[in-house]
Amino acid sequence: MSVLVFGSVNTDLVFALPGLPAPGETVLSPRHAMLPGGKGANQAVAAARDGAPTAFAGAVGEDALAEVALSGLRDAGVDLARLAWVAAPTACAAVLVDPAGRNQIAVGSGANREARAAQVEAAALSPGTLLLLQMEVPAAENAALIRRARAGGARVLLNLAPAAPLPADVLGALDLLIANEHEAAWLGTQLGCGASAPALHRALGVPVAVTLGEAGAEAATAAGVIATPAFPVRAVDTTGAGDAWCGVLAASLDRGLPLAAAMRRASAAAALACTRTGAAMPRAAETERLLSSTP
Ligand code: RIB
Repeated sequence: MSVLVFGSVNTDLVFALPGLPAPGETVLSPRHAMLPGGKGANQAVAAARDGAPTAFAGAVGEDALAEVALSGLRDAGVDLARLAWVAAPTACAAVLVDPAGRNQIAVGSGANREARAAQVEAAALSPGTLLLLQMEVPAAENAALIRRARAGGARVLLNLAPAAPLPADVLGALDLLIANEHEAAWLGTQLGCGASAPALHRALGVPVAVTLGEAGAEAATAAGVIATPAFPVRAVDTTGAGDAWCGVLAASLDRGLPLAAAMRRASAAAALACTRTGAAMPRAAETERLLSSTP
């Protein structure tokens, strides 16, 4: 079994700020850093560091930022055979972080807009694959790949981040939809239902997990509702916590863990990600230490 991530890969410029800027305001940062990021790449790194054989398909430009953007994937041993090098700048994100660890992020999409479903061959979409997608690459390419994955027998998880429309048949083809509370609220408005996991599950007819920050996470499936608490930590930077959750959930499901156990492991990984600057994904041993030290 293996995890295949189709999605974005960015270089993050992370600015630690005394406060997030209001419109028209300039805020000086005493510390900044250039780090690998992008929801797709972060989730692939999280899955690989958690121990899953992981491949990534996305796009970068032929520029200096590509080396930073790809460094996390390379360090984690992610298979990059399906990576495209395109005539557009490597995507870049400005990540502003306040002392409470809250962030504001703007992404220059660049090469992410050139990621194509055709980069993934049919043989990679068989029942042995768990495909994980997010929404920082073109929605039409996600839709095409999800339909092909469904036909090929792969298991499909979509993280609806950032929230954007997808056709009803595509949402209905998922094995699990993952959203945070803001994305869940957006989707609930679109569907004319509530924003909770059970309400979205009833409306879509597929399993739905909603991550709720310090309140943990809740999933609704045909078998019932699962709620997992968050692991209490002192947050330094919440950037990438959702990506840690998705990547570790995918790795856990890929190795056969039941959904409840996979959600607990994902929550531990997300908590650890909040204790570090940037989108820093934990290793399996770190996640296991937190799991075993928490009743
Ligand atoms: O989820 C965090 C990520 O969102 C950052 O790494 C940034 O690149 C944006 O894509």
